[in-house]
Amino acid sequence: MLTTPFTGSAGGETPLVTITGDLQPEWDIPVNQHLLIISRNQSWLSHGFHKYPAKFFPELPRWAIRKYSGEGEHVLDPMAGSGTVSVEAMLANRHSVAIDVDPFARLLTRVKTTTLDPSILDRAVAAIAEALVAFEAGGDPARMQAWTHVPPFAYQETWFQPFILEELGAIRGAFARVRDAVAPHAPGPYLDFLRICLSAIIREVSNADNNCTRTVVRTRLNKRVVPGMALRLFRRMTQVNVARMREFVPLAPAGATVAVPEDGDARAIPLEPGTMDLAVTSPPYINAVDYPRTHQLEMYMLDLSPPGRPLAEAKRKHIGTEVVRAVDYRELHRYGLADLDAQVESLYAIDKRRAYIVHQYFVDMERNFREVWRVLKPGSRYVVVVGNNIIREQVVPTHSYLMQVAERVGFNVETYFASEVIRHYIKVPRKERINQDWVLVLRK
Ligand SMILES: C[S@@+](CC[C@H](N)C(=O)[O-])C[C@H]1O[C@@H](n2cnc3c(N)ncnc32)[C@H](O)[C@@H]1O
Repeated sequence: MLTTPFTGSAGGETPLVTITGDLQPEWDIPVNQHLLIISRNQSWLSHGFHKYPAKFFPELPRWAIRKYSGEGEHVLDPMAGSGTVSVEAMLANRHSVAIDVDPFARLLTRVKTTTLDPSILDRAVAAIAEALVAFEAGGDPARMQAWTHVPPFAYQETWFQPFILEELGAIRGAFARVRDAVAPHAPGPYLDFLRICLSAIIREVSNADNNCTRTVVRTRLNKRVVPGMALRLFRRMTQVNVARMREFVPLAPAGATVAVPEDGDARAIPLEPGTMDLAVTSPPYINAVDYPRTHQLEMYMLDLSPPGRPLAEAKRKHIGTEVVRAVDYRELHRYGLADLDAQVESLYAIDKRRAYIVHQYFVDMERNFREVWRVLKPGSRYVVVVGNNIIREQVVPTHSYLMQVAERVGFNVETYFASEVIRHYIKVPRKERINQDWVLVLRK
C-alpha cells in the first residue's frame, strides 16, 4: 500500500500537494485539500482523438471509478462531453452510460469508446489516401467534383479559404470509399472514426482563432492557412489517431459496454431507478463555455447542424445557457438558499439577465441531482467536478452552493477538495476565470 502524501488534518488548512500521474484509490483525500495534479495521460489512447473544452484529465475520473465502483459495475456520466469517464470506465472494466445534449459530444464519445480492428482501419485509411492523391492529380475536374461535397452553411467564405473548402470537400468525398474498403464489415464505426479525424483539424484550417471558446475570426492574429494544409493535417491526424487506436484495442476489456443514448438530458435521465453504482461528471461552468458555438464549424462539416436551424435552438438545452428570454428575467427569482439568493439579488441590481442565468443554473443542477439520486443505488456516490465563476466582478462560489443543493436533494457531502487547473485548451476570458476546480463527493 502506498503511503498518503497528505499531512493536513480534515477540514483544516492544508498545503498544496502536487501529484504527478495517478491519485491512488487507497488515499483518503482530506476535506478541503488543495491538489495540483500533473496529468501524464491527457492524450493517451482515445483520450487524444479530439480537443474538448474543460475536458477532464483522465486521472481524476480514473481515481473516482477505482475508488467508488467495482469491476463489472455501472458508471454514469450525465454531462459526458468528450466521454473521458466512459473511456476510463472501459479501461477499468466497468459498464458506462454517457449522456449529453450535444450531438457532437455524443458522436465523439461513441468514437472514443468503440474499438476498431486496426487492420481494417488501415484498409479504410489507404482507400481514402488513394482518393486524395487522385484529387491532387485531377486538376479542375477533380476540384469541381470536390465542391459538390462541401456542405451548405452560412458565411462559408468568412470561415474558410476557398482552397480549404475544396480540400475538405475532397476528404468528405473520399469517405465514399470506406464502405468497399471495409466490406463485409459495417462501415459506420470506421466512417465515424474518420469523421472525428476530419473534425479534429477543422479549427486549425479555418480562419477562426484556434484557442477560443467562441468561434471567431480575429484579423489581428494574422493566421496563416496555406493550400494543401487540410490534406496534410488530415493525413497526419489519421496516422496519429490510428496509432492511438492500435494501442487502445488490447487494453480495452471486451465485456465493458458503453451506452450513449440519443435522447439524453442530465435533467431527464433515460434510466431505471437504482441501476447505477457510481456517477461522475463535470457540469458546464455558468455562462462560460458555449458548446454549440465552440463546435459550430465542426458541426457543419460533420452534418450535425442542419442548415437553417439557428444555433440558439441548440444552446437553449444547455445547463448554464446564455440564451434566456427577457420575460424570464424581468423579475427577481428566489431559489430558497439564503446566500445564493442574496448573491442573485445583488447581481439583479446591476444585471437582471445574468442574475437569472445564475439562478436558473442552480434550478437545473437541482433537477440533475434529483435524477442522479433516482438512478443511483443506495450508498453509492456522485462525484461532481465544478469550477467557480466570476460574474459581473463577483465570485460565485458554485461549489459551495452545489453542496447545499445536494444536501437539499438528500445527498451527504462525504468530502470535497480542490484541484488546481493548469491548462484548459479553450480559454475562458481572463476576468471570468478561476484556476481551480472543486471535486465534490456526494453519497446517496
Ligand atoms: C464541462 S463539459 C464535460 C466535459 C467532460 N467531463 C469531458 O471530459 O470531456 C460539460 C458538458 O455538459 C453538457 N451539457 C450541458 N447541458 C446539458 C444537459 N442539459 N444535459 C446533458 N448534458 C449537458 C455539455 O454539452 C458539455 O459537453
